[in-house]
Amino acid sequence: MKYNYLEIPKKVHLKLLGIDQKPSCVQAIFQPASEPSEFGKAGKSVGDILFLEKQNLLLVSLGPAKKISADVLRQAGGSLIRWLTTNRMSEIVIDAEDPIFQPSTKFSALLEGIFLASYRFERHKKSTDTTPNPVVWIQAKTHHIEVQATVRRAEIITDAINLARDWAHEPANVINPVTLAERSIQLAEKYNLEWKILDEKELEAIGAGAIVSVGKGSHQSPARLIILKYAGKKTDQEEKPVVLVGKGLTFDTGGYSLKDTANIQGMKYDKCGAMAVIATIIAAAQLEIPIPIIAVIGAAENMISSYAYRPDDILTTLAGKTVEIVSTDAEGRLVLADTLTYVQQNFPARAVIDLATLTGGVVVALGRVRAGLLSNSDRLANELLESGERTHERLWRLPLDEEYFQLIISEDGDMKNSSTVREAHPIVGGIFLSQFIDETTAWAHLDIAGVADSPKELPYSPKGATGFGVRLLIDYLENLE
Ligand code: BES
Ligand code: ZN
Ligand code: ZN
Repeated sequence: MKYNYLEIPKKVHLKLLGIDQKPSCVQAIFQPASEPSEFGKAGKSVGDILFLEKQNLLLVSLGPAKKISADVLRQAGGSLIRWLTTNRMSEIVIDAEDPIFQPSTKFSALLEGIFLASYRFERHKKSTDTTPNPVVWIQAKTHHIEVQATVRRAEIITDAINLARDWAHEPANVINPVTLAERSIQLAEKYNLEWKILDEKELEAIGAGAIVSVGKGSHQSPARLIILKYAGKKTDQEEKPVVLVGKGLTFDTGGYSLKDTANIQGMKYDKCGAMAVIATIIAAAQLEIPIPIIAVIGAAENMISSYAYRPDDILTTLAGKTVEIVSTDAEGRLVLADTLTYVQQNFPARAVIDLATLTGGVVVALGRVRAGLLSNSDRLANELLESGERTHERLWRLPLDEEYFQLIISEDGDMKNSSTVREAHPIVGGIFLSQFIDETTAWAHLDIAGVADSPKELPYSPKGATGFGVRLLIDYLENLE
């Protein structure tokens, strides 16, 4: 199947029943595991399903009543889609006004689960599954208009997440910094965003020696800085934007500090920070979020060649500070150093938030459950932590004490890009980036290396890129005054 990469086809049709329309298909009922009688038989765990054919009902368990959170609904939505596909059931109806979906954030979460679980990366498969896509009917007799708006909103956010997943899934022979820039321009044109691309010559001319060096080893594609701007809906022209920065390593071999066979696998996902940031600005524009937003991607491909940078090289960054290279595999922070400097030089911001698959160490520390959060602002950190809890894209704050800088003191340059010991890698990454942050900038760094992709299928995400960060950032942006 050939399709336009700006539009991600859905494997589910979600439709609203007309007010007078009567459903003629099986009804899905969501219920706590403790429900008496037949309903209790659905099962104990979230997403267990029981089909009562005679009664025309499909019972979906929500697990213990006390633990029914919005994310439980998201997971249940995911199971429902999996069940419908496996059992080739073509239609189902859900009553949006069932009190179990109150408050309405729970109903939104259910819709998100349905849309997110139906994503598949099938672009390069010659033989695709021919199972017809299920139709999910939503019934809303009294609050029809509100439910319609909720469906639309869930669709915008999940389409953006699925776009982030789709582009993240693309291998490095398809997406490289140059093709990523081209695709970003097309997206910007489609959604009426302003855009600007800096190529390697322009980056070199302004003195961005770190990002240019990281991209130098690639014959296929040199580095790019990709800027997308959404003007916001406020009348106040003076309103400062929120700037979102993404690490866009379209492939990370490690460079001369080469990764081994096990660790190089999946390094196409080293662009997931960039994907989350691009998807967020696209969703924000469609949701008409009031505040202006700027998304800036530092894109490069970390390769080996005689042009590549080496350990021991000393690079001069855009900020003028020099960095001695200990490991060419600590490349993300170099790309981000120049990107963060560029945004502070050009866009006075209300907050700068970067998302990056920066360290394997954060996976060791927090596993695949929470992303690391490092910030110079308690207020910004707390706002993000709260958004994380609300959206279930959870964060955990790590410290940024000055002492950690001792690990990257350099004799020959202003700092090293990595320490020589295996200590506190995610924090050292944060401390390194903080050297490029002005005191007046409210900044947060999210190390998403553990959560950006998953080695196994999750309740509402197939194996691979998860699109982590989009729900979190949209919630943060929507809750700013
Ligand atoms: N892209 C990697 C981090 C990564 C590791 C992402 C595993 C996803 C899964 C990053 O560029 C890297 O290689 N970091 C090094 C830093 C070290 C040399 C200080 C690491 O984590 O080993
Ligand atoms: Zn690396
Ligand atoms: Zn990397």
